Amino acid sequence: MLFVSFASFVSKALLVGIASTTAAQAEDKLRVGLMLPYTGTYAALGNAITNGFKLQVEGNGGKLGGRTVEFFTVDDESDPAKATENVNKLVKRDRVDVLVGTVHSGVAMAMAKVARETNTLMVVPNAGADELTGPLCAPNIFRSSFSNWQSSYAMGREVAARKHKTVVTLTWKYAAGQQSVDGFKEAFEKEGGKVVKELTLPFPNVEFQPFLTEIAALKPDAVFVFFAGAGAVKFVKDYAAAGLRTSIPLYASGFLTDGTLEAMGEAGQGLVTTLHYADGILNAQNQSFRLRYAKAYKVQPDVYAVQGFDAAQLLDIGLTAAGGDVTRRAELQKAMETAQIASPRGTFTLSRAHNPVQDIYLRKAEGKENKLVAVSIKALADPARGCKM
Ligand code: PHB
Repeated sequence: MLFVSFASFVSKALLVGIASTTAAQAEDKLRVGLMLPYTGTYAALGNAITNGFKLQVEGNGGKLGGRTVEFFTVDDESDPAKATENVNKLVKRDRVDVLVGTVHSGVAMAMAKVARETNTLMVVPNAGADELTGPLCAPNIFRSSFSNWQSSYAMGREVAARKHKTVVTLTWKYAAGQQSVDGFKEAFEKEGGKVVKELTLPFPNVEFQPFLTEIAALKPDAVFVFFAGAGAVKFVKDYAAAGLRTSIPLYASGFLTDGTLEAMGEAGQGLVTTLHYADGILNAQNQSFRLRYAKAYKVQPDVYAVQGFDAAQLLDIGLTAAGGDVTRRAELQKAMETAQIASPRGTFTLSRAHNPVQDIYLRKAEGKENKLVAVSIKALADPARGCKM
């Protein structure tokens, strides 16, 4: 009797022991929540970010800050209406340590609100919403990509330098489109140009025909647009098919032609854009990144892959400084704030508002590549208007 109860005590103790070790091991994993679009017009962007992020983690032995990474994934569909519910799946249900996302500015702003309220560490690997590193800036929110202002501001200067005087803009009517046009206009009008008409259509509509008819009638010197992903492919093809490529030069931030050139075919050739990445950047980081990425995924990387890769690099720097402990916030955030990120785009640092201070390149689409033409603006920092931190 005594023996039996002793044996059952031992086996129970063993079971409890095993269970708690398993729990402890599971707790030891770093829970990373990826909230990205895997369907819809930005699906390819979400996939490239995921690939870039995982490439860096795999190169690190599956770890960030010395801790094995466990991924939790949500498809946000680039739908702001579902954003709060989606981010709560990661924060409340999956209890992630870190949030990584997303592509769409409107969705990212809803994510950032939850990240602030719950003090969850968040890295934005694309969405350019100026607010994220402006009025909504926060100690726990970082960006490995750009602000909408940054890449289009550079294009405003380039178009003015080409002696174009009048421009019509066209974009989707949401934060990224509006802020890209604002950044472009700020620089273009400072140099003496005039934006004569700002045309918009709802995201992610691709019925461009009436706008192309209007542009043809307005006859501006040039057109500036913000489109990306599948919508960008459709727009560029429609612009060419309407016969406008030969009569009115088309300019854009480089999201138009990153990851889309193959699908655009002839219509994409020769497009001139500005962005914080170009395919042929000659530095050791870029060369090794491109080789590793092509080997792992059998496709060439684009700016989105770079931003995903750098989000993981940035987190690794922070977590390593904090001994892998996300709760050691002061050390973690300080390391991220002062990091020199060895990016394929060229080494960059973060601004006071946690946005990359980076070179913006002038590029030209040739074959399947956005070839580097020149550095358009060196070490451009977002003005971080409204950030109090
Ligand atoms: C954005 O919504 O901020 C956005 C989306 C796609 C891009 C760039 C910016 O390529």
